[in-house]
Amino acid sequence: MLKLENLDVAIAETGEIRLKNINLTIKPGELHVLMGPNGSGKSTLANTILGSERYKIVRGKILLDGEEIQNLPPEERVKKGIFVSFQSPPEISMVNYMRFLKSVLEAHGLDPDEKRIKGILRKVGLDEEFLKRDVNKGFSGGEKKRAEMAQLLLLKPSYTVLDEPDSGVDVDSLKFIAGTINEILSRKAGVLLITHSARILSQLPSNFMVHILVDGEIRATGGPELVHRIEKEGFGS
Ligand SMILES: Nc1ncnc2c1ncn2[C@@H]1O[C@H](COP(=O)(O)OP(=O)(O)OP(=O)(O)O)[C@@H](O)[C@H]1O
Ligand SMILES: [Mg+2]
Repeated sequence: MLKLENLDVAIAETGEIRLKNINLTIKPGELHVLMGPNGSGKSTLANTILGSERYKIVRGKILLDGEEIQNLPPEERVKKGIFVSFQSPPEISMVNYMRFLKSVLEAHGLDPDEKRIKGILRKVGLDEEFLKRDVNKGFSGGEKKRAEMAQLLLLKPSYTVLDEPDSGVDVDSLKFIAGTINEILSRKAGVLLITHSARILSQLPSNFMVHILVDGEIRATGGPELVHRIEKEGFGS
């Protein structure tokens, strides 16, 4: 169980509070959807779960199966089974994608088997040729998102935060991304999906929970009906 308990989070550099009293519990196999206006703090929350040093937890806890992890560095959190996909995945020069994926697997104590890597790349609809290219360099927006899904399938984390994996992707990419999320949910991973659109949700199990973040606070929690209300009425802010 991944539990956020009474979290207040500030921008490390300025001390400005960006998230207030966040409480959220994600159990194995559960899909939670986080929606909210631009600038409401969704990516801040994703980065806080990962342990980015740009953000400082000023109150509250992050618990992974009962263990406090809010003071652990990102690599330790990742080793414990937390995966956070970036809204804008970074480009890495001079490192080809195969070498990168192998080193990620090795860092997790997993077998850096080339055959498996190639199989998973096919699964997310990326050509093997991508493995020869620098990480994310010149990848299109949709290709970057698919590449993140490949990492997700390789690493099999217990809890995953996906920051707008569906933004700017075409219908085919969307299918691969939804397929990946369905696969990890069926393997009992817990998922927090940040999105602006109901489009991806129609391809996912319909028993998800929705949380609406406005101005750094969760203002409403409910089922899929909340998404339809937001689509019709907006966030009311
Ligand atoms: N490192 C930082 N330094 C200064 N301001 C920051 C920093 N990180 C986030 N912010 C500010 O905090 C607010 C929340 O940003 P965040 O990226 O979490 O929003 P978001 O909900 O993900 O928005 P979007 O839907 O546009 O992705 C914004 O006003 C942003 O400018
Ligand atoms: Mg964001």
